[in-house]
Amino acid sequence: MLDAGHTQETLLEVNNIEVIYNHVILVLKGVSLTVPKGGITALLGGNGAGKTTTLKAISNLLHSERGEVTKGTIEYRGQRIQDLSPSDLVQRGVIQVMEGRHCFEHLTVEENLMTGAYTRKDGSAAVSADLEMVYSYFPRLKERRKSQAGYTSGGEQQMCAIGRALMSRPETILLDEPSMGLAPQLVEEIFTIVKNLNEKEGVSFLLAEQNTNVALRYAHYGYILESGRVVMDGPAKELSENPDVKEFYLGMSEEGRKSYRDVRSYRRRKRWLS
Ligand SMILES: Nc1ncnc2c1ncn2[C@@H]1O[C@H](COP(=O)(O)OP(=O)(O)O)[C@@H](O)[C@H]1O
Ligand SMILES: [Mg+2]
Repeated sequence: MLDAGHTQETLLEVNNIEVIYNHVILVLKGVSLTVPKGGITALLGGNGAGKTTTLKAISNLLHSERGEVTKGTIEYRGQRIQDLSPSDLVQRGVIQVMEGRHCFEHLTVEENLMTGAYTRKDGSAAVSADLEMVYSYFPRLKERRKSQAGYTSGGEQQMCAIGRALMSRPETILLDEPSMGLAPQLVEEIFTIVKNLNEKEGVSFLLAEQNTNVALRYAHYGYILESGRVVMDGPAKELSENPDVKEFYLGMSEEGRKSYRDVRSYRRRKRWLS
């Protein structure tokens, strides 16, 4: 499906965007990226690199943060989406799962999932079928369907947030830091589900992650952001074999494994800055 040589349909095209907060703080300094149909595209980078800002720029969620796209264009299926509200975007098939897995704590898991279907006009039978589809991917959610979301585990809340997004029947999910705060085994479980949704339901993903290691194992293509700029991009496999990525993002080098802290204090200039 994603072999070189096949022309892929482009869904999302971010072209050279600049984002400024509070009229003065320049955070994104010309970010460009492409999300093809049927792919998992990773947006990588450390804390503060601009991943969340990029996702919020795409889904038009910056206004409440006093942020503004001041340059560049964002298109979905060739049409500008910069002036659409988040619910217009959902109608076009794009939905964001926010960082920090926001569920409605006082609603049950199932009620949370059902809130994801509010924009749909295809009737309750289709919605019920999709609820079963979500439960088939997330059996844990089915077990916890009657539990108040606020009392479920962090992993279950992340699943609930993704499940709720699925209930809108999206073509593309913008997923912000799904691994945050979760134990490694749960992170693998969630990424495996993302991969299944991508392969079996055809959902395309733009996935923001600090956890480069896990993201590159599941994504097809990656972009690395540093201080609001894309410093490198390429097929996930190539990135994971790149010496700089290994050293600075995967905590490895030719001398063997290095901890993140060692890498930080290691002053060799990154090759992409020279
Ligand atoms: N509402 C805001 N107002 C001012 N600065 C912000 C705001 N939100 C984020 N920033 C700044 O923008 C930069 C990028 O943040 P963010 O997009 O959250 O990065 P990431 O998701 O990669 O951790 C950081 O320096 C952060 O402090
Ligand atoms: Mg973030």
